[in-house]
Amino acid sequence: MPAAPADPLAGKRLLLAVSGSIAAVKVPQLVSALVQRGAQVRCVLTPSAAQLVSASALASLSRNPCYVEADQWLASQPKPLHIELAEWAELVLVVPLSASSLARLVHGLADNLLASTLLASEAPRLLAAAMNTSMWHGPAVQRNWRLLQAEPGLLALEPASAGLLACDRRGAGRMREPAQLLLAAESLALHGANQDLKGLRLLISAGPSREALDPARFLSNPSTGRMGALMALAAQWRGAEVKLLHGPLQLDPAILEGLECHQFTSAADLELLLKQHQAWANGVVMAAAVADHRLQRPNPEKLSKTDLHQQLLQPEAWQTVPDLLQAMVVAKPQQQVLMGFCAHTGDGLAQAQAKLSQKGCDLLFANPIDQADAGFAAPTNKGWLLQQGAAPQQLGPCGKLELAHQLLSQLNRCLQDLNVPTGF
Ligand SMILES: Cc1cc2nc3c(=O)[nH]c(=O)nc-3n(C[C@H](O)[C@H](O)[C@H](O)COP(=O)(O)O)c2cc1C
Repeated sequence: MPAAPADPLAGKRLLLAVSGSIAAVKVPQLVSALVQRGAQVRCVLTPSAAQLVSASALASLSRNPCYVEADQWLASQPKPLHIELAEWAELVLVVPLSASSLARLVHGLADNLLASTLLASEAPRLLAAAMNTSMWHGPAVQRNWRLLQAEPGLLALEPASAGLLACDRRGAGRMREPAQLLLAAESLALHGANQDLKGLRLLISAGPSREALDPARFLSNPSTGRMGALMALAAQWRGAEVKLLHGPLQLDPAILEGLECHQFTSAADLELLLKQHQAWANGVVMAAAVADHRLQRPNPEKLSKTDLHQQLLQPEAWQTVPDLLQAMVVAKPQQQVLMGFCAHTGDGLAQAQAKLSQKGCDLLFANPIDQADAGFAAPTNKGWLLQQGAAPQQLGPCGKLELAHQLLSQLNRCLQDLNVPTGF
C-alpha cells in the first residue's frame, strides 16, 4: 500500500496565543485536534485568558508547558521567554483575539507576555477575533481591525456575522469554529499568509445537483462538495473575493463561515446562478458534479413503485441536461480563466484530453473516482491538470486543501498570462 501523504501540520511548531475572550473555552478542542495531527503545540495565555481556560488543561492536551504571565519573570529562565517562544514558533495562532490584544498588536504595545511574543515573532500568523457585537462594531475596534488588515504576513478572520453570543446577544462576534481554524492553520502551513490572489474575483461551484423524480426521490451523485469548498476557502484566504455556488453539501457547515454562498439544488438552479454571476468573475472553477439527465417533468405526486418503474423506463420521459461548462466557455469574457473538473474511472488522461479539446475550457482537472485516495468523499485527491497547449501535470495524491492551493496557483498563472493584475 502506498504511504498516506504527509499531513502539512505534522511536525510543525505552533504557538497558540490565547487572549481574554470567552471563546477561549474552545481552545482545548483546537489544541487536541492539532496534536492529533502531529503538530508540536505550545500555548501562552494572557492573565484574562487564564481566568477563562485552564493552563493545566492546555499543558496536558498539548504535552508541553502552558505559559502564563508569571513565567516571563522566572529567574530560572536564561533567555527572555517572549524571544524564545517567538523564535521557536513556525506558525502563530492568536485564538481568540480579544479587543484589548488587537489594540496592543496594532499599536505595538509589548506590556504582557503574549503581546511581546507577537511583536518579536516573524512567523505567519492566524488571528481569530471574538467579542460582543457592540464591541466588534465599535469605531475603535473597527479602526484597529482595518489597521491589522494592512499588516503583511497574517490571516485575520473576523468573527462570524451572526449567532448567539455568551452575553445573550445575537449578532456578529462569535469566533470562527475550531473546524475552520484547523483548516486555516493547515492553509498557513501550506501557503503562508501570502495574499497573491488579492484583487481577483473567483466564482466556484461545488457539490452535487439533485434532479427530482417525484417529491420523495431524486437522482444525484456522491459528491460531498469538499474539494470546491476548500478551493473557495483557500482562495479567500489568499486575498481573492469569492462566491461559492453549492449544491447539498456533506460537510461541517461551520467551515463555510465568512464565505459568500449561493445554494442550488438542481442543474437548472445552478445554470441560473452561473448566468447571474459569470460576468462578475476573473476566474471560474466548476467543481460541482452536475447531473447529465433529468426527467422532462418531475412528478408532482409521489409515485407508486410500479408507476415509478414504468416512468423510468420511458425514453421520452427523459431529457439531457445542457452542458453547463460548455455554455460558460461560450459566454466567457476575454479576460476570464475557466477551470473545469472531470470525474472519471479508468484511463483519465485520455478521457480528459478529449474532453478538454471538446469543451474548450482553459484548464481541466481530471479526477479519478475509482481509487481509494481520490475523488468523492476521500480526504485526499489526485489527478491530471490539463491546460490548452501545455503538457499535462500530475498532481497529488495529497490532502484536498493542498490540491486546492496547487490548482489556484495554476489558475493565477493563467490569469497573469492574460495580464489580469493580481496580488497587489
Ligand atoms: C467572562 C468574560 C468574557 C469576556 N469575553 C470577551 C470577548 O469575547 N472578547 C473581548 O475582546 N473581551 C472579552 N472580555 C474582556 C477582556 O477579557 C478584557 O478586555 C481583557 O482586558 C482582555 O485582555 P487580553 O487581551 O490581555 O486577554 C471578557 C471578559 C470577561 C470577564
